[in-house]
Amino acid sequence: MTHTTAAPDGFLWGASTAGHQIEGGNTNSGHWLLEHAPDTHVEEPSGDACDSYHRYGEDIGLLAGAGLNAYRFSLEWARIEPAKGEVSRAQLDHYRRMIDTCRDAGVEPVVTLHHFTVPAWQYQEGGWYAPDVVDRFRFFTETAARILDDVSWVVTINEPNMMVNQAEAKIDTEWGVNFPGPSPHAAQVIAAAHHASTGVLRGLGHVRSGWTVANQVYQAVPGYERERDDWGYWREDYFLEQSREDDFVGVQSYLRTIIGPDGPVPFPDDVERTLTGWEYYPEALGHALRHTRDVTGGVPMLVTENGMATSDDARRIDYTTGALSGLADAVDDGCDVRGYLHWSLLDNYEWGSFRPTFGLIGVDRETFARAPRPSLGWLGDLARRNVLPRTAARPEADAVFAATVAAPAATPEPDPTRK
Ligand code: BGC
Repeated sequence: MTHTTAAPDGFLWGASTAGHQIEGGNTNSGHWLLEHAPDTHVEEPSGDACDSYHRYGEDIGLLAGAGLNAYRFSLEWARIEPAKGEVSRAQLDHYRRMIDTCRDAGVEPVVTLHHFTVPAWQYQEGGWYAPDVVDRFRFFTETAARILDDVSWVVTINEPNMMVNQAEAKIDTEWGVNFPGPSPHAAQVIAAAHHASTGVLRGLGHVRSGWTVANQVYQAVPGYERERDDWGYWREDYFLEQSREDDFVGVQSYLRTIIGPDGPVPFPDDVERTLTGWEYYPEALGHALRHTRDVTGGVPMLVTENGMATSDDARRIDYTTGALSGLADAVDDGCDVRGYLHWSLLDNYEWGSFRPTFGLIGVDRETFARAPRPSLGWLGDLARRNVLPRTAARPEADAVFAATVAAPAATPEPDPTRK
């Protein structure tokens, strides 16, 4: 049985997207080069994506019309700085119009500066290995700052820990050197870029800045707590520690990972999975919030991504109900949570394929027509009433843990860090 309780005052309710995943035609980015490389591992290119570069007004209108009050989107560095040191005022104006469209619709813009993609020139110079990458990102932040006059929430870098984790999947050779790792060196360079960026943003006076961290909700097979902590340090906690002086930290949560003596333990074959192959585990968000609070020491949190890829919108609502219920419990437990931004507003390009559908809004792949799903209206209704749903605990979640620990499946888990 679901009932509701009040959300914190001023809570942000919204949805998130990322430029490369929805805009279309991001031809000057490193990812576009990768998608079109002769020996690419990428299943299909991003192409026109959702054509949101032209249709952002409709997207923001649907979000606001449903009752949501915040929209997270990212700026494409590749468009704004098409060649090293060369700034496109027209592209800055484009993103400024997006901010204005949000403001006109009564929507709080949450602007991400870097969401996995870099300009082609930066990619060719080595991505996070380029010797001057920290200075380049500082310059990009200064450039972007020209249009951030009245923006209150800025994410510097999305999921730095995913970018470092990527190489662990042994795809560093496929991704060129853009996603190297899992090296502390790469982590430290990305952290330096983040600190350089927050330094610029702090100077503006009115911006709250932070980065977003993918929370894997590492749970230990009993007796392997130390292995769990070691496994998680360079994959997650280091990045949370870097947030301690920030104005907020973005919490991004989808799943859990059970760690045994040799790393992740596969779930039983009959576990319910989403279209990305991840365990259906809405409880993840509550755990992610508590863990983030504990490691950062209480920096304000904004849920910047949470959701599930499914073709069954009723299941999306179930998942989100469970996640929000966990969020409400975490708030009762003293967590300072400022908002919830669902991933994603639209069915989008999932870094290689359009198959995993995360959207509150479906998008026709031929016509780009938008089809709002019931989950959009459902989330908007909670937003209008500023209430959080509360559900009973799911015994299935504990049963899956017990079964996984007792008899892990032989098939390895799909790698959630592979985008
Ligand atoms: C990323 C998104 C991605 C989502 C679902 C997050 O790690 O920030 O870009 O689409 O997960 O896979």
